Amino acid sequence: MGLLAKHSDILTSKHTKNEENNVLTWDNFDNNAFYEIIKADGLKKFAERRGLAAGCDIELLKPIWSKASSILEIGAGYGRVINALLSKNYTGKISAIERCASMMDALIKTYSNKINLFKNDLHNLGDIDEKFDVILWLWSGIGDFSKEEQPIIVKHLKKLLQENGTLIIDTIAMDIMPLEVIQHDRQLYTINVNEYVKYIYEPNTAEIKQYAKEAGFKNFECTSYQTDSSYERLLYILS
Ligand SMILES: C[S@@+](CC[C@H](N)C(=O)[O-])C[C@H]1O[C@@H](n2cnc3c(N)ncnc32)[C@H](O)[C@@H]1O
Repeated sequence: MGLLAKHSDILTSKHTKNEENNVLTWDNFDNNAFYEIIKADGLKKFAERRGLAAGCDIELLKPIWSKASSILEIGAGYGRVINALLSKNYTGKISAIERCASMMDALIKTYSNKINLFKNDLHNLGDIDEKFDVILWLWSGIGDFSKEEQPIIVKHLKKLLQENGTLIIDTIAMDIMPLEVIQHDRQLYTINVNEYVKYIYEPNTAEIKQYAKEAGFKNFECTSYQTDSSYERLLYILS
């Protein structure tokens, strides 16, 4: 029996585990309780431990975002990316989507008069009728979605981009052991806080390449970087 089986009791009834093949069925909806419970301060502590809090990824991406008139951030969390963009003097329009109510409260308090906040679920992107030059989906945000959901969301995001727009996706490097996790296999794992579980599926390069192709992106680049705590991560640039 795999470690994930321990947590099957907190899954809602629509989720089932196939005991025989040790296959866990979950989707992005299951991760919301984790974010509601850890709140903005808890997420910030995770970012500090991973060496992302100071925005090293945003510094690295400066040649891309500095040319953009509009940026959409997907799943803004406690505002790490927004803060980095503003403190690096980005002067274009910043928009951000966040579903979790407790994260959204923190975002509204600090950023509501500076940026455009959508309290929205990524599954409802059709509600947004703007197009953006750059979309940032950083810090393994894609991993919050199951393998089945990921290509669907990438297709939705492509529709929110200007014709020559760029989508950036960040994941951990595949040969790096994720921090503080209960491992199931190298790509599927969980992070636990008390009894709350976050499920993660880290897509590999071949999978992201396939999502990009299916969504109609023509260019695909991948670059690796080290966070401030020497943790290796990958940035995919789809345009
Ligand atoms: C790993 S955190 C990343 C936060 C931020 N992007 C950063 O880089 O610091 C993922 C965020 O995505 C949000 N999220 C997850 N699923 C979502 C969905 N379906 N719709 C909107 N936001 C979502 C979570 O609530 C969480 O705040």
